[in-house]
Parts: sequence; structure tokens; C-alpha cells
Amino acid sequence: MTFPLPVQRLVQRAFSTLLLLVVGIGLTVARPNTALAAQVSPPVDPAALSRAVLAMEQLDQMRISLASTLEGRTEEPTIETMKEVCRPVGMRAVAIGKENGWQVRQVASKFRNPDHAPASAQEREVIDLFHRHPEINGLWEPAISEQGAGLNYYRRINVEPSCLACHGTKASRPAFVKDNYPNDMAFDFKVGDLRGMYAVHLPAEVQAAFAAAAD
Ligand code: HEC
Repeated sequence: MTFPLPVQRLVQRAFSTLLLLVVGIGLTVARPNTALAAQVSPPVDPAALSRAVLAMEQLDQMRISLASTLEGRTEEPTIETMKEVCRPVGMRAVAIGKENGWQVRQVASKFRNPDHAPASAQEREVIDLFHRHPEINGLWEPAISEQGAGLNYYRRINVEPSCLACHGTKASRPAFVKDNYPNDMAFDFKVGDLRGMYAVHLPAEVQAAFAAAAD
């Protein structure tokens, strides 16, 4: 069934308002003492939101399939094959950001690459929330003032059996990890643990341009 364009716009706008409400309610429930919901006012384009969600699902799948190529190997993997798991994921994250006008990064409290340390109070809060609530897979927050108007999407990263080859015990880490990451903290994980999260910042003006292009 197709609606005339004004009706479609109306439906889109109603959907956007609903999403903002959901974000607002989420925040109010999480932090009942702050009136953060009132600060949420960027234009939100549903298509950009779903695109960000999809992009992070695909990025996560990329890592899982790269890591699974190492699982159950009988021969000792070469240094080159060992390296081809999380660095390419980091590079793909940056590329996704460039393609869409977003900033995409990985964040972890027990990080291996210091670039992935939590960079704001909001990132620390969301990691903590993912820790305490394993049932939460992803969530939206309003961008913080340093970022300007916009939204942030966060998506959890869990530890799978195949990750333990490099994120298991300290002693069992491959030599290239021990050599290249002297201050590594990303070990001693167990299957199902929270490993970190993807953080996507969608600036408001990019969303507005995206919405205009889709009209
Ligand atoms: C072959 C070794 C290897 C495997 C297997 C591996 N990782 Fe990593 N992981 C690394 C290295 C090396 C880094 C640091 C990459 C960099 O410098 O950006 C890293 C970094 C990360 C980061 C970014 C945060 C940080 O600590 O810097 C996340 C998240 C992550 N790994 C999750 C996983 C998950 C989830 C799996 C399993 C699906 C996995 N890794 C499997 C080697 C590995």
C-alpha cells in the first residue's frame, strides 16, 4: 500500500517522535534525577538510524567470521593469519564512518589498543550498563555537548569461543600480541563476557542531509 508523500512524511515524523520518546524514557528510567530527555532535540531520520544499526551488525559478523577461521585449526596459525582479525575490523569501522559521515569506534574498559579506551563519561556509563544488563544489545543516547547536536548508537561486543585464542589467558596470547601491545589489558575473558562496544556518532546535520536525499 502506498501513501501520498505528505502522509509518508507525517508517518516518518510520528516515528521519529516515538523514537525520541523511547530514548527519552530510557534515559529517565536509567537516571531518574536528570532531566536529560528535554535535551534530545536533533532531527532524527529513521532510515539513518536503521542504517547505523545494520552497519554495526555487519561489522560484528565480520569479526566473528574472521575469528572463526582460526577455531579448531590443527596447524599453528602463522603470524599473518593471526593478525587478520581485530585490526581489519578497526579499519572497517573507520571506513564505515567515512562512508556515512559518522564517527565509528570500538571502546573497551579492558582495552588492548589504547585508542579504544573510553573517551567520555557517557561511554563509561554505557559500558557499565552493558556489564550490568547482559540482555541489552544496543541503545541510543543524545550526543554529548563536545560532539555537537546528534545521536550516539552503542552496540555491545560479547566474547565468543573463537576470541579466546587471543583474549584468553595472559600466557596463552600469541607472541605478536605480547610484543606489540605491552600494556595490553584485553585478556582473561570468558565466553559470554562483555568484551566492549561499538560507538557510532551520527551528527545531526548528516542525518538532515540523509533525510533530504531520501525525499
Ligand atoms: C588473532 C588474535 C585475535 C582474535 C582471535 C581476536 N582478537 Fe580481538 N583483538 C586482537 C588484537 C591484536 C587487537 C588490537 C587491535 C588494534 O590494535 O586495533 C584486538 C582488539 C579487539 C577489540 C578492540 C578493543 C581493544 O581492546 O583494543 C575488540 C572489541 C575485540 N578485539 C574483540 C574481539 C572479539 C569479540 C573476538 C572474537 C570474536 C576477538 N576479538 C578475537 C586480537 C584478536
